[in-house]
Amino acid sequence: KILILDFGSQFTQLIARRVRELNVYCEIHPYNHYPQPDGTVKGVILSGSPSSVREENAPAVNLEDFRKKLPLLGVCYGAQLLAQKSGGEVLPSDTREYGRANLKLIKKDSLLLTGLSQASQVWMSHSDTIMRIPADFELIASTESVQVAAFQIAGEQTYGIQFHPEVTHSLEGKQLLENFVVKICQCKQDWNSANFIESTVQELKEKLGQDKVVLGLSGGVDSSVAALLLHRAIGKNLHCIFVDNGLLRKNEFEDVLHSYQDLGLNVKGVDAKLQFYNALSGLSDPEVKRKAIGRTFIEVFDHEAHQIQDVKWLGQGTIYPDVIESVSVKGPSATIKSHHNVGGLPDFMKLSVVEPLRSLFKDEVRRVGGELGLPPHILNRHPFPGPGLAIRILGEITPEKIRLLQEADYIYIQNLKETGWYGKIWQAGVILLDSRSVGVMGDERTYEHVVALRAVHSTDGMTADWVHLPYEILAKISNEIINKVKGINRVVYDISSKPPATIEWE
Ligand code: XMP
Repeated sequence: KILILDFGSQFTQLIARRVRELNVYCEIHPYNHYPQPDGTVKGVILSGSPSSVREENAPAVNLEDFRKKLPLLGVCYGAQLLAQKSGGEVLPSDTREYGRANLKLIKKDSLLLTGLSQASQVWMSHSDTIMRIPADFELIASTESVQVAAFQIAGEQTYGIQFHPEVTHSLEGKQLLENFVVKICQCKQDWNSANFIESTVQELKEKLGQDKVVLGLSGGVDSSVAALLLHRAIGKNLHCIFVDNGLLRKNEFEDVLHSYQDLGLNVKGVDAKLQFYNALSGLSDPEVKRKAIGRTFIEVFDHEAHQIQDVKWLGQGTIYPDVIESVSVKGPSATIKSHHNVGGLPDFMKLSVVEPLRSLFKDEVRRVGGELGLPPHILNRHPFPGPGLAIRILGEITPEKIRLLQEADYIYIQNLKETGWYGKIWQAGVILLDSRSVGVMGDERTYEHVVALRAVHSTDGMTADWVHLPYEILAKISNEIINKVKGINRVVYDISSKPPATIEWE
């Protein structure tokens, strides 16, 4: 495997994804907390960073841990660190260098540059520049404005590059990473879904033996794939719980429950609608609603988990970005779990945790799920928030409002599917506003609910652009909702991007 040391760059995860796309396994570790490389590590990549090597207390690693022992590639900050620690000079650039540049290959036979074209386009994003490299460093490429765009160190398998090969604007960046990982580090390209499933199932069998595992299914991709892997390893000893909180999309609970049963999962569907509606009654503040839902889920799940005799493990669908986030250079994020601690931990949270997807990115989870036979309607579904429709009904929630929203949402999503837009959109949904509007129907004046349609393009939900849906499709959806859903007389389309808006309205 390849070890990637993270100095806090926004692109570190992208390096890992590119390496995985080469079918080579890699792990990200924070620069100040990484395992000493053992025989399984074939090479090390030092990431970029928002810091400057010139700062006092600039993040650094003991390069002697790797140099001359393993192939080493410094990217941006990583390259500057290598240069500076070896006696080179790093200074602020005159202007912050940001954007496309073209490489002039100086040492074409450098293994790192194999197959790259002269004038290959690369992406720069840095405010410091390596002004001078030590004598044993060999310059291998420059650009118009950056002399030291790439170097290697004589007698070592150590390389540094000022540009970012991991972003797609570096057109041959993937070739460069392949040169490093395959030619220089000599990694075998055998990391794929089939191998992952085989080795994970084997590990789970050894780890769990005859133990019982309880796992909460949400209908989403991660928990479903985690369940399928565990099921393949331990069969009926995996006890799944799927809670109907009454806040899912129309027909969703029944449809997904049937799919789970068809897949052979040992799953119990729990109708807890009333419990959730009672907990939400009278609440209108978004964060208070979220907390009430979180608390109720824990009560319901804890009760159900107690019905299973001798359960030892809690299965979870944690994926790699969650893991990286919690150990990242920026420090642990303590956002989601705050309300879990009120009044002590419920019993199920004291179980040992098993997380078979801990090392996978989302697209890898999807591929594994596909290989395990998860049907496309679960595999390719849009993200859906845990609190469900409760945060898409602005203000107070009533069963009648939930029904209205479910009907409108159903029409919207069906139309997106029929027109082929569903697959092109990252997330879509309908929001029920907390104001009413006047309308006319026949000779009658109406005074009814307003809904907003939302559809966004995004890659990770952190930023998002609103989708330019064709007017004809919007017109058809609006007509259908107003004609078919009694109680809604106006439809609007949300044309805000994130930031400054968010994807959800609450
Ligand atoms: P925002 O509205 O913050 O949403 O732009 C970003 C992504 O997060 C989802 N989201 C949630 N997911 N619990 C969740 O599990 C929540 O409380 C929650 N709030 C927002 C949202 O659907 C979008 O995908």
